[in-house]
Amino acid sequence: MNFELSEEQLMIQQAARDFANHECLPGVIERDEKMLFPKEQVLKLAGLGFMGMMVNEKYGGAGLDTLSYVIAMEEIAKVDASTAVCMSVNNSLVCWGLEAYGTEEQKQQYLVPLAQGKKDNELYIGAFLLSEPEAGSDATSQHTTAEDMGDYYLVNGTKNWITNGSSASVYFVMAQTDRSKGSKGINALIIEKGLPGITVGPKENKMGIRGSDTHSIQFTDVKVPKANRIGKEGFGFKFAMQVLNGGRIGIAAQALGIAAGAYERSVNYANERKTFGKPIINHQAIQFKLADMATRVEASRLLIYKAALDKDTNKDYTISSAMAKVFASETAMWAATEAVQIHGGYGYVKEYHVERMMRDAKITQIYEGTSEVQRIVIGRSLAK
Ligand code: CAA
Repeated sequence: MNFELSEEQLMIQQAARDFANHECLPGVIERDEKMLFPKEQVLKLAGLGFMGMMVNEKYGGAGLDTLSYVIAMEEIAKVDASTAVCMSVNNSLVCWGLEAYGTEEQKQQYLVPLAQGKKDNELYIGAFLLSEPEAGSDATSQHTTAEDMGDYYLVNGTKNWITNGSSASVYFVMAQTDRSKGSKGINALIIEKGLPGITVGPKENKMGIRGSDTHSIQFTDVKVPKANRIGKEGFGFKFAMQVLNGGRIGIAAQALGIAAGAYERSVNYANERKTFGKPIINHQAIQFKLADMATRVEASRLLIYKAALDKDTNKDYTISSAMAKVFASETAMWAATEAVQIHGGYGYVKEYHVERMMRDAKITQIYEGTSEVQRIVIGRSLAK
């Protein structure tokens, strides 16, 4: 077993770290306050090849492994979790899903610009539309319909909590075609945002990751060509689950970034801040907190690297990705809360960043499968 990163992975880590500190850090507080989508940052990430990291170079991607991707995700999320989730959705849910299951025509038409994050020099990213007002954790309970009209599907319904909802050019939409078949009657469709009948709802005013644009999307009699279905008829739910297995590794890395960022800021602060005549790091109460944070951050990182390696070596990564996500997201929430405590009053104001990290951390326990859903996935495998 080798715990060393390759030279290439170390270079990616450094590039991501530099990018986060020079391009994401300035303005991160303002984007959070004003709910501004980090368009400039995402366009620059695209220029670095970070929007299609795992996509084969022949489709415009960077041709890297999953481990390189999670290393980069951690660094971006340490500084700016809103930019990181945009990157994660495009890489894991959109690009990976299309490369794994799309037709050659779909790849040429959609994957090439999605992997580059740009088309005609304009932002070109995707979104993943599974959740609905009444289908969150209970994802098989789809109410959006894709009626088979012969050579096209007629799509009607509403999707909720869509990351990249207004900035995406392409939506991957799960919709029910044959209700009698349950989850096997669901199709995954590539729908261009510009089609008639699509309405993007207002931006959600969220607790955290306020820079990321989260919207509901409504479909009214939207005509989608059959050629835009991903995989065989009825493959949509399996597609969503398979794609989410990888997505959960990306969100675990986002959570790791938040936890590690909160930890690093706390170590720096504890070395500088003095109480009772000495830096607070010399108080055992603070040392114990930092020791636990260091341990849980490292344990999260190892679980995430293990899940990434399972994926890269073609092993089943359903369980390892669920374990990585539940552990890293719970670590992020806990570590960010401890970071605020260590910072005291300073932790409660915006300039010190950790209050934002605490708000950002919460969503990692909710999206791409709640902590409870991850435990269902792990627990069911034990019952088998
Ligand atoms: N990997 C592969 N296949 C899976 C799977 C997984 N993780 N989970 C389920 N499946 C398969 C099952 O094997 C089953 O297939 P068969 O019928 O062939 O056996 C099929 O999918 C249906 O599964 P279940 O019978 O287990 O379905 P269920 O109704 O009991 O629900 C669930 C299972 C695990 C709870 C699932 O609904 C789930 O994962 N829910 C959470 C959904 C989710 O993660 N949503 C995130 C939204 S996207 C998002 O957040 C993106 C963003 O913007 C950041």
